[in-house]
Amino acid sequence: MDRPPDYSSGGAPATGRALTVLGLETSCDETAAAVVRRQADGAVQVLSSIVLSQTDEHAAFGGVVPEIAARSHVEAIEGVARAAMVDAGLEFAALDGVAATAGPGLVGGVMVGLSFGKAVALARGLPLVAVNHLEGHALSARLGAQVDYPFLLLLVSGGHCQLLEVRGVGDMTRLGTTIDDAAGEAFDKIAKALGLGYPGGPALEALAETGDGDRFELPRALLGRQGCDFSFSGLKTAAARLAAACPTHQDRADLAAAVQAAIARQLAERSARAMAAYAERHEPGRFVVAGGVAANRLVRARLQDTARAHGFSFTAPPLAYCTDNAAMIALAGAERLARGMVSGLDAAARPRWPLDEAMALSSPVHKAGRKGAKA
Ligand code: KG4
Ligand code: ZN
Repeated sequence: MDRPPDYSSGGAPATGRALTVLGLETSCDETAAAVVRRQADGAVQVLSSIVLSQTDEHAAFGGVVPEIAARSHVEAIEGVARAAMVDAGLEFAALDGVAATAGPGLVGGVMVGLSFGKAVALARGLPLVAVNHLEGHALSARLGAQVDYPFLLLLVSGGHCQLLEVRGVGDMTRLGTTIDDAAGEAFDKIAKALGLGYPGGPALEALAETGDGDRFELPRALLGRQGCDFSFSGLKTAAARLAAACPTHQDRADLAAAVQAAIARQLAERSARAMAAYAERHEPGRFVVAGGVAANRLVRARLQDTARAHGFSFTAPPLAYCTDNAAMIALAGAERLARGMVSGLDAAARPRWPLDEAMALSSPVHKAGRKGAKA
């Protein structure tokens, strides 16, 4: 009798050979390229990872300017991709595929990386994988540790704040999302109100180190509402008002500490609810956090405590792979390539591209709009 297919690694059964993939990431303000090898047994090696940040080019504007980002990606992508190949010690002929972020993100930048990926694929006769940037974050913990499917994921970045049940490659259900700002966006906007530079998250974390988080009382969002959705706009407004009345460095440090604690608490509270729901369906409980905000030490510590209290294991990506990078894109590409999930050279750049498309369309938190459902 035939044995049933082994889906333990998630999605369709994977190919039985090692795959080496060039990944490209240009969806926001980092031009990144990386080479990742996925062994036949699913083990992952990062052979190179180059991230060229445009932070300095956007600093004067207090945020990312899409036109500047797109132009910088055009100027940088070829050099960054070549550097990734040199660091990996490989010729293009050694590649099995090319993976490029195809969305969601700033579409001008996305088009640069995706077009470059198509050019490499065409010139070298390689398969192309158009990768959802969020799927890259979702799988990023696997760049540092073995994480079997299924797992519960908290994806917290500058553009997204979601809880997802991840059953395999491209097989995810959204359990909760933000009804207004993303957590990273809240960090960035409050940091700006405190006179800190962009990106605000790391700057606010540094300022909070010498602060007393108990001094300021901040509002708690969606009290009395069940479920796993997030909201940060009330916190943002309250913090901005308080920041205007914080003349000294110590005042600002105290406020930064209170803000960081409030964000960490909300993330932990909603994750706890998601863990309770997830535990009814799956054993063992695995909890993964990913995205730029996962680099925050207090956030990590709170989430780790929450996972332990609920009997879940806890995994976060290595710090270098929390914020945007191309290794996670190469890995997502390799996982798809291993399952024959490749894209045509007509793959489109998508400004919006929810991970759980069905859920985003049936119960959109944001109106779907002309360009499709937001994540
Ligand atoms: O994942 P990411 O690099 O880009 C997106 O896909 O959005 O995340 C960037 C976000 C920014 O909002 C940044 O302020 C935040 O992650 N971030 C942090 C920290 N490092 C980055 N937030 C809080 N603490 C940090 N240490
Ligand atoms: Zn990202």
